[in-house]
Amino acid sequence: MPDTVSKFAYQALQQGKTIMGLAHKELGGRLMRLVDPQGAPQTVPVPAPMTMALKASMDRLLETDWQEAESGLYPPSLLFDAPWLDWAARYPLVWLDTPRQWNRRTQRKVRDLPRDVRPEDYPAYYLQNFHHQTDGYLSDHSAALYDLQVEILFNGSADAMRRRLIAPLKRGLRAFSQRSPGQLRLLDVATGTGRTLRQLRGGLGEIQLVGLDLSASYLREANRCLSQLPGELPQLVQGNGEALPFADATFQAVSCVFLFHELPPEARQNVLQECFRVMEPGGVLVLADSIQLADSPEFAAVLENFRRAFHEPYYRDYISDDIEARLAQAGFAGISAHSHFMTRVWCASKPLA
Ligand SMILES: C[S@@+](CC[C@H](N)C(=O)[O-])C[C@H]1O[C@@H](n2cnc3c(N)ncnc32)[C@H](O)[C@@H]1O
Repeated sequence: MPDTVSKFAYQALQQGKTIMGLAHKELGGRLMRLVDPQGAPQTVPVPAPMTMALKASMDRLLETDWQEAESGLYPPSLLFDAPWLDWAARYPLVWLDTPRQWNRRTQRKVRDLPRDVRPEDYPAYYLQNFHHQTDGYLSDHSAALYDLQVEILFNGSADAMRRRLIAPLKRGLRAFSQRSPGQLRLLDVATGTGRTLRQLRGGLGEIQLVGLDLSASYLREANRCLSQLPGELPQLVQGNGEALPFADATFQAVSCVFLFHELPPEARQNVLQECFRVMEPGGVLVLADSIQLADSPEFAAVLENFRRAFHEPYYRDYISDDIEARLAQAGFAGISAHSHFMTRVWCASKPLA
């Protein structure tokens, strides 16, 4: 496809996803105010200039996404990669599940989990309905809806934000350029349903990929998502990011996306220390999570509304947390950070000495 045509197609696709996301949220908000006005979240107003700034920020993200694909950093086909039929089939389930989420929000039920969950298998902070999600992260039903819900939340830009990991990972892995890609290993901590590993398979080629998550259901969904790809199947491991079940210096790269805002502060530090331990000296860590108040004060109202609308018990602490200081405390060096729309991406390396 000529570049101008595929760029136009990408922009049209993203616009379509944005319209879908905005329409879904607008309709959901109206219905909730109608059905249960007491339960509707009390959000703060987002002034028009902030909405414009958000749109401009998303446009910049999509332009970067396009430019990096066009420059050969990853195949342009990755920009169009999504399980459209699956998502279309699952979309009605999102609506069917919505009243249960509203009910949980109204009743302030935040520990409404499947009966067969064994609490002793998980850290206490994990046993909650993050985003009022039905079953928390602990059922196949939750895992089946997660990707679509994230797409709606970010107006279709979630994968574009996840792809911002590819450039810093590639740069960091140059430290091991004397090895073949098949000799390099990357660990994705809190891999969820596998969307990040799917982007990384597209961007990093034949490197060995390992995904770890606490949820067996999310890993089953990840297996479905990743087993459709050609090439070596990523290895999926159930475990806690705070106590990684891997030997020291096993990986040349570690990634972690959208986990830290759901962790209490001490768990954030434990995860970073574990990432450091399992990384070979010279390795690279790329961490992505929500933007914070210090780097994006202009979007303070949006961050506040996220916290008010969704059950995110550690978000207020997270948006003021000093992640650079935590990285340095864990032993990382060469720390840098950049924001891409609603995501902040930190890059750091494990010193050689
Ligand atoms: C918001 S989701 C992010 C998933 C994925 N990285 C993505 O890009 O969509 C958070 C994930 O972190 C996992 N998780 C939470 N606490 C964890 C922990 N201590 N160790 C491992 N995984 C954890 C959850 O099961 C869930 O899959």
